[in-house]
Amino acid sequence: MRIKVFAIIAFIILSVHSSIESGNEERTIFNTKHNLSVSGKGPIKSSSETRVCVFCHSSHNASKDGPLWGHETTKSNSFKTYDRSTLASKPEQPNGATKLCLSCHDGTIAVGAIRGLSKPSTMSNVGGGGEIPAGRRSNLGTDLTGTHPVSIQFSQTTAVNAKHLRWPPHDPADKVGTDRDGYVQCTSCHDPHSSKSEKYPFWKKETFDEVCIVCHEF
Ligand code: HEC
Ligand code: HEC
Ligand code: HEC
Ligand code: HEC
Repeated sequence: MRIKVFAIIAFIILSVHSSIESGNEERTIFNTKHNLSVSGKGPIKSSSETRVCVFCHSSHNASKDGPLWGHETTKSNSFKTYDRSTLASKPEQPNGATKLCLSCHDGTIAVGAIRGLSKPSTMSNVGGGGEIPAGRRSNLGTDLTGTHPVSIQFSQTTAVNAKHLRWPPHDPADKVGTDRDGYVQCTSCHDPHSSKSEKYPFWKKETFDEVCIVCHEF
């Protein structure tokens, strides 16, 4: 028993140590475009707000749309969803984390629209309404027909009918997959807080394919 406990503690110390050592490789939110505060590294950032998390989370008066969600949530309910006839699943209007992402990325809401402010925080390089400007690749708009299907329920029936899917989806590291309700969302591929890949933004794995093969069989 003692030896077991010791082995577990040693393992924890070793893994914490190695994660600190590799800390330079794994970008944290502070070095990404999701640092929207004055210290942000991207072109779109606040001219006065120093807090980083506040653009998406608030400690009080948060909305129930997400975990302590502190940003105005998109009001759009008329997204064009992925519509190829080959699809076994049925994309729904954005829900879950997808709805949270689209609260900035559909380009209909000001990036600085922090809940509770009388007017959005002033940001650089945004459109007239404070939104991510049209024409930027990060403005996905409300037409999602060119985006991997999101807000779809991934069930065993879907997997059987679609044939190219793995059931159940399996990630040994338990990072990539469906959300708690069994839906594929933006967060199935992206982690809004950090990136494991140099090449793919907010990517959950080191490589592109590592993400896809959690759910797909080729
Ligand atoms: C650009 C938006 C954005 C910013 C900035 C942001 N988050 Fe998040 N965060 C999200 C979203 C979206 C989720 C929901 C993810 C999901 O449902 O899978 C989330 C979820 C979380 C959760 C719940 C656990 C999890 O990972 O799902 C915690 C805790 C959290 N964020 C902490 C923070 C902290 C601390 C900061 C500041 C250092 C921060 N976040 C900044 C978007 C953001
Ligand atoms: C509070 C607003 C906000 C929310 C909410 C938000 N983002 Fe972003 N995101 C931005 C801005 C602003 C940028 C920078 C856009 C640019 O420079 O064109 C960005 C950039 C990105 C990029 C590109 C990063 C790069 O390095 O090129 C990805 C990918 C992304 N976001 C995914 C997501 C996902 C997925 C979610 C939900 C889990 C999300 N975002 C939620 C504001 C937001
Ligand atoms: C199947 C995985 C996957 C899903 C699901 C996904 N993305 Fe992405 N996303 C990517 C990849 C890969 C890139 C890198 C650019 C590329 O190859 O198109 C990317 C790029 C982006 C960018 C940067 C702009 C660009 O085109 O370079 C943003 C912003 C973004 N995604 C937001 C989102 C949002 C918001 C959602 C949900 C509506 C979402 N993504 C769902 C894989 C995904
Ligand atoms: C969390 C699970 C998951 C991840 C991760 C994922 N997919 Fe998917 N993907 C699905 C599901 C579920 C469908 C819907 C299949 C259906 O209903 O027929 C789908 C649909 C697709 C389709 C459209 C098929 C059609 O019939 O139009 C393509 C192409 C695709 N995925 C490629 C990718 C690629 C490339 C990646 C990695 C960047 C990826 N997927 C990551 C679950 C996932």
